[in-house]
Amino acid sequence: MRLLLLSCLAATLAAAPSAQALDRAKKQDLIVQCAACHGADGVARDAETPDLAGQHDVYIYRQLRAFSSGARPHKEMRYMGRHMTDEEMQAIASYYSGLPKQ
Ligand code: HEC
Repeated sequence: MRLLLLSCLAATLAAAPSAQALDRAKKQDLIVQCAACHGADGVARDAETPDLAGQHDVYIYRQLRAFSSGARPHKEMRYMGRHMTDEEMQAIASYYSGLPKQ
């Protein structure tokens, strides 16, 4: 029994780094998608798209939630928001808030 518990623990620990790597890949994938409109550096090239660089992470996160629920209506952003988990929204909010404003 004890051995079983230990092997479960070992399996969990071994799985952790690969789960994290998957998250990083997913985050990178999202950034590429957002960059199409918001710029890789978080600075949009088009006047109808807001800059995200240096924006507060809480603000970005709340907007993503609002787009996804439809509370803030916008076709493209609703689509983006609906395909993101809460964890992904937080990760992307923290990524863009960490970029320098221009
Ligand atoms: C097809 C273009 C497009 C893509 C792709 C896109 N956005 Fe947007 N995004 C917009 C536009 C346009 C707005 C302005 C919405 C409005 O007018 O209310 C916006 C608004 C936002 C806002 C609100 C900013 C503010 O100042 O209120 C956030 C946050 C945001 N997008 C995050 C993201 C993230 C994160 C991704 C990637 C997962 C993403 N967007 C992908 C076009 C896009």
